[in-house]
Amino acid sequence: MQTQFIGQQLIELISVPSTNKVAAEQLALSQLQHGAVVFAHEQTAGRGQHGRSWLSAKDLDLTFSIALLPDRLKVSEQFVLVRLSALAVHEVVRSLQPAEVRVKWPNDVLVGRRKIAGILIKTEVIGQLVQSAIVGIGVNVNNNDLTADLNATSLRLVTGTVHDRRALLEKICQAFERRWKKWEDEGEDGSAEFSEALWSRGSWTGFELDGQPFKARPLDVDQEGRLVIELENGQVNAYGTERLRFALRG
Ligand code: BTN
Repeated sequence: MQTQFIGQQLIELISVPSTNKVAAEQLALSQLQHGAVVFAHEQTAGRGQHGRSWLSAKDLDLTFSIALLPDRLKVSEQFVLVRLSALAVHEVVRSLQPAEVRVKWPNDVLVGRRKIAGILIKTEVIGQLVQSAIVGIGVNVNNNDLTADLNATSLRLVTGTVHDRRALLEKICQAFERRWKKWEDEGEDGSAEFSEALWSRGSWTGFELDGQPFKARPLDVDQEGRLVIELENGQVNAYGTERLRFALRG
C-alpha cells in the first residue's frame, strides 16, 4: 500500500464476525501498530451504530478497521476521529461518481438520500487521553442487491460499474493518512469541511429528541460533535447522539 503508516500493517482475513472485534482483540494483545488495518472479505456479525448490525455482502463490499494509537488526542477532541474518517470516505466516494455526496451526522456517507458507507468508532480512554481508537468503515461497493432498502445504495448501483475493493481501500487509507498528518502537523481538524458536507444543512428535517419527533434545521456540528439545530421557534440548541437522532426517513 502506498502510504506511510495507515495500512502498512495489513491483516487480510477471509471471514470474521467483525473487523472491529478482531482489531480490538489484537490491540488488547498489543499486536497492532499505529495505522494497522484489519480488512475482511466477509463479516458474519458486522456491528453498526446504536447496537444495530451492519450487513455487507461477502466478496462484494468493503469492511475494514483502522487501529490508531494517538500520541496526544484528548477525550474532549475525539470527534476529530469522526471528521477525518468521514471526510476521507466522502472524498473518495465523490471522486468516483458525479452525484452529490454528503455526510449525515454523525458519521454516515450518503449519495443523494441513500447511505453508501457507515463508520463505527470505538475508543479506549485513560484519564483525559484517548489511548487507542478503532475506526471501522463499511462501504457498499459491488453489492447490486440493495433495491429492497430504499435508504441504501452502493458504488456499483450509482456508477453502473464494478469497483476494485483493494484500490478503494488504498484510496481511503491514503485520504485518511493525509488528513491525519494535516491534523497532527497543522491542527487542521476538518471542522469547516465537515460542516460544508453536512447532509440536510439548512433544511427542515425530521428528528427525534429523547424519542419525541419534531422538525429542525441542522446548522453545524460543534467541536464536541454535537449537532447544532434551529428549532421551529427560532431557538438554536446543540445535542449529542445520546439524545438526538434523525427520524427514520430523515
Ligand atoms: C453504521 O452506519 O451503523 C456503522 C457501520 C460500521 C460498519 C463497519 S464494517 C467494518 C467495521 N466492523 C464492524 O463490525 N463494523 C464496522
